[in-house]
Amino acid sequence: MNERARQKLILALDFPSIDPALKLAQCISSTVGIFKINIHLFTSAGPSAVEKLHQLGPDIFLDLKFHDIPNTVKGAVSSAIALPGLRLLDVHALGGLEMMRAAAAARDEAKNANLALPKLLAITILTSMDTAAMRGVGIVGPASKRVVQLARLAQKAGMDGVVASPQEVRAIRRACGKDFLIVVPGIRPSVGGGPAGGRKRKTDDQARVATPAEAIRAGADYLVIGRPITGAPDPMAAAGAILEEISSALP
Ligand code: C5P
Repeated sequence: MNERARQKLILALDFPSIDPALKLAQCISSTVGIFKINIHLFTSAGPSAVEKLHQLGPDIFLDLKFHDIPNTVKGAVSSAIALPGLRLLDVHALGGLEMMRAAAAARDEAKNANLALPKLLAITILTSMDTAAMRGVGIVGPASKRVVQLARLAQKAGMDGVVASPQEVRAIRRACGKDFLIVVPGIRPSVGGGPAGGRKRKTDDQARVATPAEAIRAGADYLVIGRPITGAPDPMAAAGAILEEISSALP
């Protein structure tokens, strides 16, 4: 197995409770680099989910997408940093410069406490949103422009990187440089990719999508993949095929 490809694969364990998440995680832990825990699983299973999944080996992306007043976000980030094995943690860039600065301040204060620090990511615009959905919440203009604007703001606030759609990776890289992390959901393999497998690409509720190879060639640091693996008839085989596709696209 290509270790570089494995380290780029984040499996979104989007399950309603810890048992099915652990069941899949145990079978697949040697194939993926990071397990992602979302608000659904965290709300039902709590912080112990982080510990149980981290014990299997991979680090954790705690995808709770904090979006609140700066002081509240700062407190939430401080509490999250104390959890074991956190490699990535995120907040919404739309919370604004001061909110992201408060998150960065919590991370920086933890440096002094000698804790292993996660990288802080800012969600730009959800990959499920198309132009009409963006217009509905008052975000006008092409997604790529707004996303780059939010990525610049995140960098200014001291975030380590962003979450964005594969279609915006090149523009963010140009704007924010080679060391700024770009984490990319909205990945759909060119064939299959859904619970039924099949030949036709399935996008579910994602709007701004690309294949694993396209996202890697564009310069993504990590790919977040959920249903194309968790909903596949054979999740191990689906993950293996995705790893091969990532390997083939690596420089
Ligand atoms: O199943 P799928 O591959 O679409 O899962 C994508 C995962 O990435 C989900 O857990 C979703 O919450 C998360 N995500 C996203 N778009 C963002 C940020 C996170 O789809 N902008």
